[in-house]
Amino acid sequence: MAFPEAWLNELMSKNDIASVISEYVQLTPKGGRLWGHCPFHVDKTPSFSVTPDKQLFHCFSCKAGGSVIQFVMQAENLSYIDAVRSLAQRAGMDMPNEIDDKRLMEQKRRRERIYEANREAAMFYHKALLSPEGENARHYLERRGVNADTAKRFGLGYSPDGYDTLFNYLTGKGFSKEILYDAGLAVPGRKDPTKSFDFFRGRLMFPVISAMGKVIAFGGRTMGSDEPKYINTGDTPVYNKRENIYAINLLKGKKLDDIIMVEGYMDVISLHQHGIDNAVASLGTALTLQQARLIKRYAPKVYYAYDGDEAGQKAMQRGIDILRASDIEPRVIIIPDEHDPDEYIREFGPDSFLLLKDASLTGIRFKLERIAKVHGTDTPDGREKFARDACLLISRLDPVERDRYIPFVSERSGLSIDTVREQCGVSANSGAKSEAPARLNTFKRPKRDTERIRSERRLLACIMTSPEAGIEIVRKNGFSLTLFSSPSLRAFCARLISAYRTGSKADIPVMIAELDPASAEDVSSAFSGTDDIVSPVECADAIMASLTMMDLKDELKTLSAKAKETSSSEEKAAVMKEYSEKFAKLQQLTKKQNN
Ligand code: UTP
Ligand code: MN
Repeated sequence: MAFPEAWLNELMSKNDIASVISEYVQLTPKGGRLWGHCPFHVDKTPSFSVTPDKQLFHCFSCKAGGSVIQFVMQAENLSYIDAVRSLAQRAGMDMPNEIDDKRLMEQKRRRERIYEANREAAMFYHKALLSPEGENARHYLERRGVNADTAKRFGLGYSPDGYDTLFNYLTGKGFSKEILYDAGLAVPGRKDPTKSFDFFRGRLMFPVISAMGKVIAFGGRTMGSDEPKYINTGDTPVYNKRENIYAINLLKGKKLDDIIMVEGYMDVISLHQHGIDNAVASLGTALTLQQARLIKRYAPKVYYAYDGDEAGQKAMQRGIDILRASDIEPRVIIIPDEHDPDEYIREFGPDSFLLLKDASLTGIRFKLERIAKVHGTDTPDGREKFARDACLLISRLDPVERDRYIPFVSERSGLSIDTVREQCGVSANSGAKSEAPARLNTFKRPKRDTERIRSERRLLACIMTSPEAGIEIVRKNGFSLTLFSSPSLRAFCARLISAYRTGSKADIPVMIAELDPASAEDVSSAFSGTDDIVSPVECADAIMASLTMMDLKDELKTLSAKAKETSSSEEKAAVMKEYSEKFAKLQQLTKKQNN
């Protein structure tokens, strides 16, 4: 807990969720809630709701949800602290001087210091690029068609070739050795660890800048032919390459129709210089879910334009699944002749690139083309294999989407539409033996709640209804925190119970406001369900029984597998004993439930 409770309370009461959100979304009252179009995705029907008396928001379509703080975090792309700061400003409140947690403050100071060091380093590299010692680097950029304006917009630089030029400059400015190591700007000498060396030397420098405009990392390209071609800042307290996207800072404040995702620094820069200013790079080969989440704040559609080589093709295949799982529409731009986007646009110009974009494929179509290429559709054997794999893929789509690809599969395989349709049906039902893209189903609709999670939420909702009911429920024999398989629900329940027990005021909206966005979604979804619970204790009883039964069934399965595996008769007997005890318990519960 970073902020004093009373202060946070005041902040929440001065920033009524309905009035804050009204600044972003037009809200209309209906049935005790306020409704509008969700600002986090393209939302044709108003599926976004605000519940003023609970101080929560929730989108029924994308499942975003939480308190006013999480709303501001997501709407403005801010960290927790910065969202709180922005709300404090809105309410005319000062940030508290003494923040509870010393360690947190210390971490924060260290991070701030790393940001400063990075910023100074970026300016130092940029100046070096423009100075006489940067002459080679300037020529290099010129040869690659990067003009001075673009170099400035991207903050490009040059890291001088000395051993410790930057190190001396920054320590001279008061930065400690430790901070420079933490930032990844300097490293201790391998032979003599008392010496320090610059991490980037004699390279063309690309600063990576966060959505908030902070310099968080660097990439450095050799201008010769030595290996590795690029070196990059590793993970630091302010940077994790799986969570960031190159050039995301240049999208700030834009609502885009789409984003173009490329592989490398130079591709982004080249596209921007040619007027295509919605290009970003993932800076690793495969896209992560965190990156997709970040992208979703800017656009509902992503055009992949990766290199035509095998690594690029593979990365796109994975990326398509990740994007679909995040409700982002993936498309693929095919660049001919194994060019990368930089090479292509320099040779053929932006109009030509935009024509490729118009001719792009849907993510699924791209995957089907890959399947066709792998098997080859010139021979009957290849066509048959293609048909099987293709049908397996599209059988996992929803029926409307599936229908779109059936003619294509029929045409390529030479099979009739009916045969393809039938094959798709067959594959869909015999899912057990098909091992290929088994996860596609779960990818299609992200976050479809399982029955288990819904029950856990409802149990938490029962406990949330009042301290009296909550205490009564957790005193019951059947209750245990381990009934919650969801870590966020379990942690929240533990906090709530301890607040109930110590008799301190359990202000649920404020407690939710302190959670990270994913946990806030989960917990606020439970909190929204408290209204229709009439008798929380009985309701909780029934849920606890059914959760316990689910657990027992799982355990029985494990035990029976174990019994089959073991060869020692002694062990087998022990397992069977445990099995029959659990089985009896399960029967007892079943009987009780049926009464
Ligand atoms: P590429 O090899 O496609 O490089 O790697 P590029 O971006 O086209 O670079 P140029 O045009 O040769 O200058 C794509 C991305 O993969 C990462 C970098 O982020 C690069 O932009 N990469 C590549 C590395 O981190 N290290 C490497 O050694 C190579
Ligand atoms: Mn390139």
